[in-house]
Amino acid sequence: MKVLGIESSCDECAAAVVEDGKHILSNVVVTQIPHHAPYNGVVPELASRMHTEWIYEVVERALTEAHCQVSEIDGVAVTAHPGLLGSLLVGVSFAKAFAYARNLPFVAVNHMLAHLYAPLMTEEVTYPFLGLLVSGGHSILCKVEDFDTIEVLGTTIDDAVGEAFDKVAKYYGFGYPGGVYIDRLAQKGDSEAFRFPLPNLYKGEHRYDVSYSGLKTAVINQIDQFRVKEVPRDPVTGNYRSEDVAASFQKAAIEILLRALFRAVEDTGLRTVVIGGGVAANSYLRQRLAAEKDLRCLFPPLSLCGDNGAMVAGIGFRYLARGDRSPWTTTAAARVRAFKRRYP
Ligand code: KG4
Ligand code: ZN
Repeated sequence: MKVLGIESSCDECAAAVVEDGKHILSNVVVTQIPHHAPYNGVVPELASRMHTEWIYEVVERALTEAHCQVSEIDGVAVTAHPGLLGSLLVGVSFAKAFAYARNLPFVAVNHMLAHLYAPLMTEEVTYPFLGLLVSGGHSILCKVEDFDTIEVLGTTIDDAVGEAFDKVAKYYGFGYPGGVYIDRLAQKGDSEAFRFPLPNLYKGEHRYDVSYSGLKTAVINQIDQFRVKEVPRDPVTGNYRSEDVAASFQKAAIEILLRALFRAVEDTGLRTVVIGGGVAANSYLRQRLAAEKDLRCLFPPLSLCGDNGAMVAGIGFRYLARGDRSPWTTTAAARVRAFKRRYP
């Protein structure tokens, strides 16, 4: 079964053709990053307009690169939530029209479940396992019972981890998207230059939650207080070196995730962890988890970390193969109310 997957939830206009949920025949991602970079963040209005202009060609390229005729597509999957409403509506409307015109089965999928599915396209894994979903909009630690069923153990109580990377990078002018630049700078920096405070969330209902507002404030407003050694300064400005700020921040940001994750590993006894979302590209996170020899940690390939249509087509296949269909009244939603404890 060849599924066309469409993704337009944020600033990537993407489409892919995937066979049987695993074999990626094409995966076209056209990023809007250069258009949003001058604003240091995604401008929602611009994003939806660009999706509207680009989506037709992106889908056409996905079909061409897959050497696939329109008539060979067996089903259509699209990200319908969560994300930027205007952006989502473009993908959802296009996907519905495409499917309706050809009388194809159509399914709307959850963006975060699609991220979680991405590593499973290249690795075999048995349920249940722990999922760590880390992106610009979410930080979710969950027990994954099936491709469509997760039990949320913890989330962020304020900013998402990717959002914290983006805000710190924006403040210091490191570049957009922040995570990419901080990761790059950190490789040449001293992660012991500053020791930032970590949130004290380990009891009761917050046992698996994370928080980034304290770290963000420390890095942005109180950095002098957390310097623990003499560090070289920029000879011109006298400021701390970007590399050291980035490396110390990144270490703390990832440590916050790992503490919650390790608590969940200990409590549940689950030793397989699947990581998904844009922050899954982080090299320090990958390095730290690679050192955990008693855990099996599955990361998506870098090409499937950010937003893409392949993960949407991949999970879409699973729904379609089971006979699930979304109604033609399906629309987009910026948030998902059901994404609380158990998300079917
Ligand atoms: O999944 P994604 O592409 O879009 C959302 O669904 O949000 O994730 C984007 C987020 C951004 O916050 C970006 O800064 C972060 O992923 N990111 C990274 C890295 N690459 C992207 N964060 C840390 N390290 C990276 N290498
Ligand atoms: Zn995403």
